[in-house]
Amino acid sequence: MKANVLMKEKEIEQIGNSFDDDACSFCDDFKKSGLVKSSQILLDELTTLGIRGKRLLDLGCGVGSFSFKALERGVSSTAGFDLSSIMIGTASRLSEERGVKERASFRRDDAAKAALPESEIVVLDKSMCCYPNIDELLDNSSNASREYYSFILPRSDTKISRIIATFVVSIGNLLSKITSQSRTYIHNIRKIDRVLTSRNFERVFRETSGMWLILIYRRIP
Ligand SMILES: C[S@@+](CC[C@H](N)C(=O)[O-])C[C@H]1O[C@@H](n2cnc3c(N)ncnc32)[C@H](O)[C@@H]1O
Repeated sequence: MKANVLMKEKEIEQIGNSFDDDACSFCDDFKKSGLVKSSQILLDELTTLGIRGKRLLDLGCGVGSFSFKALERGVSSTAGFDLSSIMIGTASRLSEERGVKERASFRRDDAAKAALPESEIVVLDKSMCCYPNIDELLDNSSNASREYYSFILPRSDTKISRIIATFVVSIGNLLSKITSQSRTYIHNIRKIDRVLTSRNFERVFRETSGMWLILIYRRIP
């Protein structure tokens, strides 16, 4: 049991280290092309639902791409958390460059364990799938949401998409093992849905973009 916990902790530390190497390319891609299509779909839909003047919590924020674009759309403030210290350092530097450092904070911490600030909007943009303890992450992050809870993860909510995702991710994980990179998880979307429904959230949006599934839930008042 103790060995299992230690192994999980080592794996979580490895997630941060492994994404450290990607910070430069994430930053360059964002500067060159802005958000990727799946993130853009999520931002557009949240904008339609209403984000102006609301607080955003960006969990697994990377270099802060989603946060910066949401600030342009009128969110009042953003708080980003990431396991990678280089992602967080880059996001902080970008917030200065973009002149938004008063409204954007970034912290290196585990979104499943940290004390998260209450926010109207919570976003986990392609971060759930890197994290092994989905129950803990879902519990802590959904508690922080006052209104919308949204996430993007590999599309696996139908039988065929689950088979494809499992196949693609297994090959990717094999390569990651060889190169000591962090692995990807295909979490059970029905289970996530059950947990959120039991916590008084209802699903208000579902869309796909390539291999990605984009979901938004709203807290029932
Ligand atoms: C694929 S990247 C996506 C980054 C960003 N959201 C984007 O779309 O550009 C996943 C990020 O989630 C972070 N991450 C995964 N699990 C996390 C957790 N429990 N707490 C904080 N960050 C986490 C990783 O460190 C990594 O930077």
